[in-house]
Amino acid sequence: MLAQVAVFILGSVETSSSTLSYCLHELAYHPEEQEKLFKEIDEALKRTGKDILEYDDLMQLKYLSSCLHETLRKYPPVAFLDRICNKRYKLNDDVTIEKGIPVFVNVLAIHYDEKIFPEPEKWRPERMNASSDNDNLQFTFLPFGEGPRFCIGKRYGMMQMRTALAQLLHKYKLEPASPYKVESDPYSVILAPADGGTVKFVPR
Ligand code: HEM
Repeated sequence: MLAQVAVFILGSVETSSSTLSYCLHELAYHPEEQEKLFKEIDEALKRTGKDILEYDDLMQLKYLSSCLHETLRKYPPVAFLDRICNKRYKLNDDVTIEKGIPVFVNVLAIHYDEKIFPEPEKWRPERMNASSDNDNLQFTFLPFGEGPRFCIGKRYGMMQMRTALAQLLHKYKLEPASPYKVESDPYSVILAPADGGTVKFVPR
């Protein structure tokens, strides 16, 4: 029970808050992209006449999705997936995986493969414009894992990040408050900024 509760808390709160921190940091360093996102949110608020955008409104904000997807590509909170092989499997002439062998999928390496994502160090939301929440880009985009054990809270996680980002961006302009290259916390189970992530919030 304790382990399940720990997975739920760590897997839900930490993953979403780290992604949000990284996204705010990148937006602070990308004023053009930040302005584009602000306009998308502002127009949606004016169009709907609401003070707070709801689920269906947020789902229509394509650029908001692109910013989050690109953040999850560059900083996947769960940097590798783990499985145990349950059936002897011949991968190719050189490699056969025996039953019971642990298998690790290096998500971070896939997300930084420049044949798939050119100039992977660059944060470019545009490269995610054509993808949707359910698109794993032929198994090259795996922030929520894949298969029967993929993240159970994916939709909820995306929803809370969309809500928070839309609210914050509409009220504040973001400016950098730490060096561009973010050091990772070596003691964190998930990929997370060493200092928790800092960014300057300037009221709009
Ligand atoms: C940015 C947000 C999130 C990310 C990036 C994320 C990522 C992941 C990943 C990579 C896995 C492993 C998938 C696999 O092995 O194929 C996972 C599993 C899981 N996640 Fe998430 N997650 C997020 C949010 C959430 C939220 C909000 C919840 C709960 C409300 C949650 C609950 C879980 C649980 C319970 C599992 C284990 C599922 C199982 O073993 O069957 N996650 N998550």
